[in-house]
Amino acid sequence: MEDRYGHRISYLRVSITDRCNERCTYCMPRELQEWLPREGILSFEETLRLVRIAARLGVRKVRVTGGEPLTRRDVVPFIAELAALPGIEDVGLSTNGTLLTREVSPGVPIAQALRRAGVRTVNVSLDTLDREDYRATTGRDLLPEALAGLQSLVAAGFELIKINCVLMRGRNEEQLVPLVEYAAEHNLLLRFIELMPVSTSEVLSEENFLPILTARRLLESRYGALMPEPQFRTNGPASYYQIPGRDQRIGFIGAMTNLHFCESCNKLRLTCDGKLRPCLGSYLEFDIMKEMRAGASDAELERFFLNVVDRKPEQHDFRDSYVPGRKMVAIGG
Ligand code: 5AD
Ligand code: SF4
Repeated sequence: MEDRYGHRISYLRVSITDRCNERCTYCMPRELQEWLPREGILSFEETLRLVRIAARLGVRKVRVTGGEPLTRRDVVPFIAELAALPGIEDVGLSTNGTLLTREVSPGVPIAQALRRAGVRTVNVSLDTLDREDYRATTGRDLLPEALAGLQSLVAAGFELIKINCVLMRGRNEEQLVPLVEYAAEHNLLLRFIELMPVSTSEVLSEENFLPILTARRLLESRYGALMPEPQFRTNGPASYYQIPGRDQRIGFIGAMTNLHFCESCNKLRLTCDGKLRPCLGSYLEFDIMKEMRAGASDAELERFFLNVVDRKPEQHDFRDSYVPGRKMVAIGG
């Protein structure tokens, strides 16, 4: 699948739930806590059908997100089926990490079960190593659980474990160096992410915004000039830098300040309530669940995918005082 700007779509992010056991200030509005009704959520069977179709159209990588995907029952067998679909070469998971040590059977933490089910990479959200900051940011006192979760990923032998840290002015500047050290110690790939206006929350204001350039400067005052590694890519829009004198690289995701951010976009999103979104930073979304439940054939659903890709914008609208229409938690970071 290719859009009119030459973006080749090979990556589908699939949100499987809008529920979460945390309440990150930048993701969920604190009040408003109504979850979608069960029948409004794609069943795993429906999701697998859509991914099978997407794979026929060239999707090779799927990332499972939420909400917190591990709050959904039977997520492990679902992921095993996902990883076994013809054409799907790479399955990733995004999680807050707090549920990873839960045992799915005696002695088997979910982290290990996910590895066996075929997950290759896991992204864990971690904005701070300070317990009080963590509680303030996520609304829950679960830092020890998140760190234990990260350790269970390391123990399970994942190929690649990433930490995503959302940058917030006045909140986590002092945490950047500790996070770099933590990542070095446990061999994790740390990425700093600019705050995006993706939720209907008041924290998404200019005064809370910390640009990646400022974060890089803060790190450079400690480590010396970071060395760009333009040849190193994972699968997304992060730019990577090496810490001088170390075998450690750090990623920066400048969704707001990097003007070339959207050029290499290869993504499409499927929300848990069955909407295809060609771009995170645009209101556009198309209800494929409705088509499917009305009896659309595979060929019709294929055409639906192609039409959505054809409507993919050249770049996101975040810089044009975009006001998000729905909660991040329901879209899937
Ligand atoms: N800005 C940037 N990143 C965000 N995430 C959630 N909300 C936002 C936001 N407003 C990130 C989480 C997680 C990923 C799924 O999306 O930190 O790492
Ligand atoms: Fe939950 Fe992730 Fe949103 Fe935080 S960012 S509330 S952990 S879905």
